[in-house]
Amino acid sequence: MERLMVALAALLLTLSASGDLVSPYGSLWPLPHSLAISPEVYRLNRVTFQIVHSPESTASVGCSILDNAFRRYFYYIFGDAAGLGQTLDGTGSPDELGQLQVLLTASDPECTQHPRLTSSETYEITVSQPTATLKSENVWGALRGLETFSQLVYEDEYMTHLINKTEITDAPRFSHRGVLLDTSRHYLPVKVILETLDAMSFNKFNVFHWHIVDDPSFPYQSITFPELSAQGAYHPVTHIYTLKDVQAVIEYARERGIRVIPEFDTPGHTQSWKGQKNLLTPCYNGEKPSGTFGPINPALNTTYVFMKQLFKEISKVFPDAYIHLGGDEVNFECWKSNPTITEFMQNQGFGSDYRKLESFYVQSVLDIVTANLKGYMVWQEVFDNGVKIKPDTVVEVWMARNMKAELSKVTLAGFTTILAAPWYLDYISYGRDWQKYYQVEPLHFNGTIAQKKLVIGGEACLWGEYIDATNLASRLWPRASAVSERLWSREETNDLNDAYSRLTKHRCRMIRRGIPAEPLFVGYCDYEYQGCKEFN
Ligand SMILES: *[C@@H]1O[C@H](CO)[C@@H](O)[C@H](O)[C@H]1NC(C)=O
Repeated sequence: MERLMVALAALLLTLSASGDLVSPYGSLWPLPHSLAISPEVYRLNRVTFQIVHSPESTASVGCSILDNAFRRYFYYIFGDAAGLGQTLDGTGSPDELGQLQVLLTASDPECTQHPRLTSSETYEITVSQPTATLKSENVWGALRGLETFSQLVYEDEYMTHLINKTEITDAPRFSHRGVLLDTSRHYLPVKVILETLDAMSFNKFNVFHWHIVDDPSFPYQSITFPELSAQGAYHPVTHIYTLKDVQAVIEYARERGIRVIPEFDTPGHTQSWKGQKNLLTPCYNGEKPSGTFGPINPALNTTYVFMKQLFKEISKVFPDAYIHLGGDEVNFECWKSNPTITEFMQNQGFGSDYRKLESFYVQSVLDIVTANLKGYMVWQEVFDNGVKIKPDTVVEVWMARNMKAELSKVTLAGFTTILAAPWYLDYISYGRDWQKYYQVEPLHFNGTIAQKKLVIGGEACLWGEYIDATNLASRLWPRASAVSERLWSREETNDLNDAYSRLTKHRCRMIRRGIPAEPLFVGYCDYEYQGCKEFN
């Protein structure tokens, strides 16, 4: 089988090396919902071609997100190519397409806002003479449409930029399409995060789930509690995210229509929070403290005073309406050993049910976050353990075992949910594992139509045990692209052969834009990866 595939790939190689035009349909990723491409071809002249505001689009004047995106996409379309925008073969040159006009129809196209869960990303593209148009309600739809337009452009063997006459109507199937990065197991330089945001925009992802702190390190530099990173980061100066860094990430993401949702996971996963005195539970060995510490201590008032101040700051620093509060994998052993906690359990009437203690803590933190007018996301255990959560809570399902039953349960209880379980991309194996991610169908579980509506999306998760700046991009891309098409395109878009052929070209496009995405199989790109490249 493997050998047959090698032979097949060799055949494909010969075909694509023969110099035929590459069909633009062949590289769209994720595939738009409705698409009509005709054989009529236009030429783009890099000297005269323009991406401009439509004359009808008065509301978008001064929209800097859009102006910056025009510049970016012009560069992605024409790049370093030396093409003169003229066919040199003398067989008659196709008509020229002079402009892409972008029309935002809303009276407030949200240029100065941040993208939200409910933001529209719908857009329409018409490519025909003399100008192409991209129409969307707001700036977020325009960003998605610009990416699609850039994917429609291809080059012939004379490096002339061409585009077919095309009609596209498109909108995402799911509204939450996330990538999780973990900056605690390894510190990721800001530049790597920004590069990931670029790659996310090439794949129409719209949420950066920033798992910013965890057991191994606390790189977030708090204004209120600077000791947290001073003592909890791998290095108190070089391996932290300052307020300026965080703001830069949020703005870069906003310019690409991407929400930033920070995760401050408690009460477990907090070994690095040692910069705050008396926050973690001292574990006991018999009568005496053992010198080690467990989860956050839920029995002390000071814990909640601290949490109140910390989340007040976090709510201000991160503008998104949601904060992820974690709540996964709490180990009860240390709590069990500690006499203060035992006493607290008795006073509260929890008996020996430590899940009640956990719920007590989580409930308090949820109330604190609610008081800051934020919504929250939580890992599934918080729901499983019966903590009272607000109706707009997003429950993230991460356990692969019983995943479908969990989706049924969460949605039956009326909560919105996102799926992460099948998309832990840090788990690697030999071969084409993107196919496995691609074939997941998030709505295949027992439930009513109303229940299925509560599934608002999913996340590709790249946990950081074996990931740092050296291998992040190649491990994430193009494997996360499989998730992006599943979450954006129609359910019926699920043919593996078609996906393979488009994804191979999409991966080459990412290479060309400077992302060292790993190969899917045997083959080559017209432009091979040349090492890091500075864009912007
Ligand atoms: C685009 O136009 C070319 C040239 O006419 C044609 O060969 C190709 O099939 C067209 N692409 C699609 C997807 O129709």
